[in-house]
Amino acid sequence: MKALILAGGKGTRLRPITYSVAKQLVPVANKPVIEYGIEAIRESGVRDFGIIVGESEAEIRQALGDGSRWDAKFTFIRQDAPLGLAHAVRTAQPYLQDDRFIMYLGDNLIKGGVRELVREFEGGDFDASILLTHVPNPWEFGVAELEGDRVLRLEEKPKAPKSDLALVGVYLFTPLVFEAIKTLKPSFRGEYEITDAIQTLIDWGKDVRYEIVTGWWKDTGTVEAMLEANRLILEGMKHTVKGKIEDAKIEGPVTVEEGAKIVRSTVRGPAIIGAGCEILDSFVGPFTSIADRTRVKESEIEYSIVMDDCFIDNVDGRISGSLIGRGVTVTRSQGKPKSVCLVLGDNSSVVMP
Ligand code: G1P
Repeated sequence: MKALILAGGKGTRLRPITYSVAKQLVPVANKPVIEYGIEAIRESGVRDFGIIVGESEAEIRQALGDGSRWDAKFTFIRQDAPLGLAHAVRTAQPYLQDDRFIMYLGDNLIKGGVRELVREFEGGDFDASILLTHVPNPWEFGVAELEGDRVLRLEEKPKAPKSDLALVGVYLFTPLVFEAIKTLKPSFRGEYEITDAIQTLIDWGKDVRYEIVTGWWKDTGTVEAMLEANRLILEGMKHTVKGKIEDAKIEGPVTVEEGAKIVRSTVRGPAIIGAGCEILDSFVGPFTSIADRTRVKESEIEYSIVMDDCFIDNVDGRISGSLIGRGVTVTRSQGKPKSVCLVLGDNSSVVMP
């Protein structure tokens, strides 16, 4: 059994963050999203990983290394054009060869892991297995129509969804999927859809099983979803305080990494403060991740993700629901005129009080 992790794609809905960071590397609770998927798959015993990369290949390789950190072996596979999930699988065929494999979309997070799913697939003799979950907005996903324990039909981004069961970004395949992919035509969005490949297997009378996710699942493709994922991971993780706390209050589950300093401040968990951070005369509220070496001075922030090396100083009002990239400065203007001064990259968004 091998794993195929998809880490291509442009992450347009997470711009401007994704101009400089691959979407799979955006941190959730201070850890790149993709690492949660790698860990979940490793827990199921799989060690051989093919990682599909696109334009951000160098960055992803640099962040993940050769897999030895997880006692695994990573093979990076370049997808020349983002022509869809099925195209990615076809690109990986020389690597996957005759093995069964688990395919995992690198920006997805699933509570509860995939161990059970992998075990059942290894023990069974079915041709594919998919994960489904109930969603309020099925038209934004691949949607399944079920009959008993069978998958009757799948449709990608349906205008009139037949159910509220969305395909989660985890799939199990045998090499038969390559035969199905060969027959595909591009979809309405110009992509070779893995959803269509699975439908082809169903049309051929093959045994396609499903399981419904009981815990939560997040596709972290948007800022809202990213912040929600951050909240859920912070709530579920184990917290420890290693940094220095001086004249400060730590309330609820909080992680303070080595070399971080919290001074005359309140940090209300769940929250994580990265290595080398300084939180001075400030409030860091629940569901907030502050990455390494960021300084927060005389400011308040909650329900947010702040990446490395930022400086948040003397800000009036509380920062909330924000995703802040690396090396960003947010401060208050001194003196007159009392104006808002913005230096923002393309596709940034600012909400004023
Ligand atoms: C892809 C799949 C879709 C699935 C979704 C899960 O959509 O095509 O079937 O429901 O991932 O995240 P995309 O992210 O390419 O729009």
